[in-house]
Amino acid sequence: MDYKTIKFITDSHIAQIVLNRPASLNALNRDMWHDMLDAVKRTAADDSVRAVVISGADGNFAAGGDIADMVDLTPLEAARFVFHPVFNAIEDLPVPVIAAVSGYALGGGMELALACDFRIFSETASAGFPEINLGIFPGAGGTQRLPLLIGLSRAKELIFTGQRIDARKALEWGLCDRLVAGDPLPAALEMAANFAKKSPVALKAAKRVMNFGAIRGMRASIPFEEEAWAGIFSSEDQKEGMRAFLEKRKPAFKGK
Ligand code: COA
Repeated sequence: MDYKTIKFITDSHIAQIVLNRPASLNALNRDMWHDMLDAVKRTAADDSVRAVVISGADGNFAAGGDIADMVDLTPLEAARFVFHPVFNAIEDLPVPVIAAVSGYALGGGMELALACDFRIFSETASAGFPEINLGIFPGAGGTQRLPLLIGLSRAKELIFTGQRIDARKALEWGLCDRLVAGDPLPAALEMAANFAKKSPVALKAAKRVMNFGAIRGMRASIPFEEEAWAGIFSSEDQKEGMRAFLEKRKPAFKGK
């Protein structure tokens, strides 16, 4: 099936979703929200799929939520924009999901990678949560999934500073599982092919049980994150932060 913002390929028991908006470094917009959710639902319903690989076109994973698509959202619209349904559906896929991360994995892009079971980075990848510099904070599961993966204080450091970290530090901090030289897609496909040889019944059961224990607490907290994230779209700082980015200038935050 043809999508506007992603490529979706299923072959040899492996489904591949490729984020495909290279002109904006694969930034996640509303069209992508719908395209991804549809592809993920079709994957979940396809019993022939035994593993999923998510990557980005043209050398970047994703540079975050699409700021141009978000700048003027009201809190109500922000609550609809938020990618929770898509990322939760990815996390809930019964089969293993691997993110092949090259170039930038920022903000919502990194939150997408966090919803996957594994993250393979290219040595030149750059990751982070720059939302604070736009007057918002990660609102698509990031405040909950990141501490689970790398610990609360490191997660706070990344989210409070908005700093980008290189792939070596991402490996050291546990943000990624493996580094490869060059394109991480072949390594991700190899890992997926290995999973595809295992018993789908046992593998799905193991994933279900392990996720149940790990995410129960996080899922209970997501509605609070959603409320706080959407509410921030009523602030002047959010409008200023995003407008400043689009106008290629430094933001002047007033705390309002
Ligand atoms: N939303 C919308 N557009 C984005 C984007 C985003 N998150 N990230 C990049 N783009 C667009 C840029 O506006 C630019 O578009 P243009 O060519 O029409 O001006 C294009 O993608 C290329 O980005 P550019 O900034 O020129 O590339 P760069 O190599 O100089 O910098 C980044 C790359 C990733 C450092 C920079 O684009 C950036 O800081 N992006 C925003 C990251 C972010 O804050 N993400 C969280 C969003 S909630």
